[in-house]
Amino acid sequence: MTAEPVFIDFAMHHETTVHRYASDILARLEADAAEIIARYPSPRSALLPLLHLVQSEDGYVTPTGIGFCADQLSLTPAEVTAVSTFYSMYRRRETGDYLVGVCTNTLCAVMGGDEILADLSEYLGVEAGGTTADGTITLEHIECNAACDYAPVVMVNWEFFDNQTPRSGRELVDALRGGEQVTPTRGAPLCTFRETARFLAGFADTRAGASDAAVPGDATLAGLRIAREQGMETPAPEASGDASGPDDQRAAAESVADKPAPAPGTTAPPTSGSSETAPDSPVADGPKHPVGDSPEDKEA
Ligand code: FES
Repeated sequence: MTAEPVFIDFAMHHETTVHRYASDILARLEADAAEIIARYPSPRSALLPLLHLVQSEDGYVTPTGIGFCADQLSLTPAEVTAVSTFYSMYRRRETGDYLVGVCTNTLCAVMGGDEILADLSEYLGVEAGGTTADGTITLEHIECNAACDYAPVVMVNWEFFDNQTPRSGRELVDALRGGEQVTPTRGAPLCTFRETARFLAGFADTRAGASDAAVPGDATLAGLRIAREQGMETPAPEASGDASGPDDQRAAAESVADKPAPAPGTTAPPTSGSSETAPDSPVADGPKHPVGDSPEDKEA
């Protein structure tokens, strides 16, 4: 059987022309890039924030931005492209002022995410991935962003809007298109996609509330509360059969550090009814995540 070739459209223009920023823009970006690169022991480690930097300039990662990153970090454009096309936060097409992402992953989908996306698509007159003619909204479906306890969620420029409905989704995009100040469920008032990209590049976010510590909400703590009510506890370390201390564990880890990982299939899944799968297994459910985890955490 002959495998069919798979072609992936990265929506990049395969041009041989080398694009460069105008001299004034280039000087500004070079100063910003120098500040970012100085934070890392190895310049190439600065690639992710530099991609956010060029995205803050162009609204997406353009061939010019890729060339700029490559020049700054002594990488090839192919290397920069390979990284930029791996992470979904780097856009490959022009993006509106507000990137409205509707989570259609499993839990959000069954809780109404699919309906929200379909409704917004009809309301805005664009398919997922498209941008409204006025350039304000780019609509997208997104994968799980670990806010399932507030499903269905919508993210605007990576900020959460919890427990959404088709109606609240319409109100949200109306407010954005009307130029209103919109504040997400957690965090600071929204700014534009390009401004957000600059913050993600590592420049100071001075908006009120931008640096406030995330506080787990009631839905996030529900599992922990139930576990406590029912007297559930995690087993003590010695009860698990592993009585070794931190030094023993470190030594054990170092002893296999250079050994290859086991081949697929050599690790058996838990047997049905075992302590790992039994529904009444005494496993306490702690806080699942710091609510408001930034998408950058999820991305890279
Ligand atoms: S399924 Fe939507 S945030 Fe997890």
